[in-house]
Amino acid sequence: MTTPRPGERERLFQGGGRMPDLHASGSGVGLPTRHGVDPAIDSDIANPLLRVEALELWYGSNQALHGISFLIPEKKITALIGPSGCGKSTLLRCINRLNDLVDGVRIGGDILFEGRSIYDAELDVNQLRRRIGMVFQKSNPFPKSIYENVAYGPRLHGTTQKARLDELVESSLRGAALWEEVKDRLHDSALGLSGGQQQRLCIARAIAIEPEVILFDEPCSALDPVATAKIEDLMYDLKSRFTIVIVTHNMQQAARVSDYTAFLYLGRLVEYGPTTRIFTKPEKRETEDYVMGRFG
Ligand SMILES: Nc1ncnc2c1ncn2[C@@H]1O[C@H](COP(=O)(O)OP(=O)(O)O)[C@@H](O)[C@H]1O
Ligand SMILES: [Mg+2]
Repeated sequence: MTTPRPGERERLFQGGGRMPDLHASGSGVGLPTRHGVDPAIDSDIANPLLRVEALELWYGSNQALHGISFLIPEKKITALIGPSGCGKSTLLRCINRLNDLVDGVRIGGDILFEGRSIYDAELDVNQLRRRIGMVFQKSNPFPKSIYENVAYGPRLHGTTQKARLDELVESSLRGAALWEEVKDRLHDSALGLSGGQQQRLCIARAIAIEPEVILFDEPCSALDPVATAKIEDLMYDLKSRFTIVIVTHNMQQAARVSDYTAFLYLGRLVEYGPTTRIFTKPEKRETEDYVMGRFG
């Protein structure tokens, strides 16, 4: 492997050439990959919104992701679990190409969004990030009013009409289960909100640009149990409208909120499947040890 120059980001395809068009094979059952039939692709997901295919990622000479393949079904919650440093955030950031912003990153394999590679040279990355929003571990409201935090994204994407912005701010705050708590102080600073409220504001901000997918990176790790329960309830409501991918190292949380779970360890996908199966009848010994709390 050659080390890339700073800022350079190149695409690697193991064995050269493009990935075969796996999407064309339809049903999702026993999809052929270059590694043979991939057990990590679950047969009961017929029409995934996103397909991660043999994804690899290097930070300089350090390989953080190794040949990861799994499916992300539409309007479900998919959890990425695993011990600290196993590559969960790295994988999540690949989905809306946030790793593009990191110097020296090289990526191989592919991620298909509605059948199209997100790494397609023709694809508009800003448009991709509008369709795939993100909520981070630490809530990061702008030092502006509650209203302005939510209106920021829509404004950036060209909504200028006040009536439309008012409507979006209200519907997004309602969507994030925050409206009742803040409707009388929309023009107060967002920084005056509690931690849990700030995180729900960040969710409202993500919703306001009307994405299809929302990525959550440990959204509750800085919150108390009451605030955490609110966010978990909220996620359950959100999945009727959005496809959700959540990184968590809290096993109970993954078991409570998600429909599908991917267990990562040392940059590899150990096991993937319906959450109930991963937590009750895992196929791999490492998964069992991890979900039983024997390591990590
Ligand atoms: N920006 C970065 N530059 C270099 N290495 C990184 C960067 N981000 C993460 N890594 C490395 O990639 C590996 C996976 O990290 P990460 O995706 O943050 O794991 P997790 O979210 O599971 O804790 C770790 O070895 C980490 O040190
Ligand atoms: Mg992380």
